[in-house]
Amino acid sequence: MIDPLRIYATCDIGKEALDRLRERGWEVEVCDQVQPPPKGLVLEKVRSGIAALLTTLRDQVDEEVLAAGKAAGLRVVSQIAVGVDNIDRAAANRHRIPFTHTPDVLTDATAEYAFFMMGAVARKLYPAEVQVRARAWTTWHPYLPWLGDEVTGRTLAVLGMGRIGQSMAGKAVGFDMDVLCHSTSRSAALGAFVTAVQRVMDLRHREGLSGRRQTIEIVPLEDALRRADFVSLHVPLTMPGTVAEPTFHLIDEARLRMMKPSAYLVNTARGPVVDEQALARALREGWIAGAALDVFEKEPLPDDSPLRDEALVPRLRLFPHAASAARATRLSADPDVGMAGRCVQGAIDVLEGRYGGDPKRMPFVVNKEAF
Ligand code: GLV
Repeated sequence: MIDPLRIYATCDIGKEALDRLRERGWEVEVCDQVQPPPKGLVLEKVRSGIAALLTTLRDQVDEEVLAAGKAAGLRVVSQIAVGVDNIDRAAANRHRIPFTHTPDVLTDATAEYAFFMMGAVARKLYPAEVQVRARAWTTWHPYLPWLGDEVTGRTLAVLGMGRIGQSMAGKAVGFDMDVLCHSTSRSAALGAFVTAVQRVMDLRHREGLSGRRQTIEIVPLEDALRRADFVSLHVPLTMPGTVAEPTFHLIDEARLRMMKPSAYLVNTARGPVVDEQALARALREGWIAGAALDVFEKEPLPDDSPLRDEALVPRLRLFPHAASAARATRLSADPDVGMAGRCVQGAIDVLEGRYGGDPKRMPFVVNKEAF
């Protein structure tokens, strides 16, 4: 009898999705703790000859893991996330191990969360609720204890015009916002998107749904930063030395100083895209009005982070990397709906040799260039 394929998941991604692997007769072992397994344990599992490793963005899938995998028969790494900056792509390519991710199914969940974060920080939803709960709401007053800033009719800069950036830009239309798009890649698809959005904006204006004709433009980064009331980040994290225009610390002191003192920064991309030390100073010293962050340079946010400064609470919202955390988006076993479904589908495609066994043709394989 042939031994069944074995799979190790570094995190529980939900029974329904994992059952799609089990029903194929494969053995699935799931890390039995909420915290990520230590690297030593991942190495031990990989060395034991698993065929697939299911990972989250918390796991470092580096040369050591991939080399051990290659030696022991690892056939695929399937990550439950769209971002894959925790996986060493060059090492995966050297060892010719395909790795997969879960694009598309989290696009709207992530963009709407970024949109809500923008409203939460600008309209001061958190301090308002704290006031009510603390029984400190003593009377209605025209401007005390504070006023917020409207989102409607303002200018949104979207940095990074991939799927999530485009979804964010689309949501801004309904709020009568002008949109400044910045992208390092100029594709025909982006041009077509901008043209389509401008048509919708024009139609809304003609039909009387917006009092003013809104505009959407593709602009250089500095223009976007200087003109926007809100700056929302939607770029992948890329490190210096790996690509021509890395996004590590894209938002640094100089770029924070370009923003208007009345502007807000929203980050649902990856923490290291923003220099947090510089951001804390920007908030303390009033270079910008506020920020809302779902991702951090180090996660979970360390106790001694300058972002925990109590003085920043009114203008800084902090969230636990939860932008895609909507029920169906995270857990649906349907690969067209949920990240869990798309994660197991990535493994199934490779292990069952679907698409003629050619990783280049498999929709969720990231490192197609290796094959
Ligand atoms: C979440 O951050 C993801 O990359 O899916």
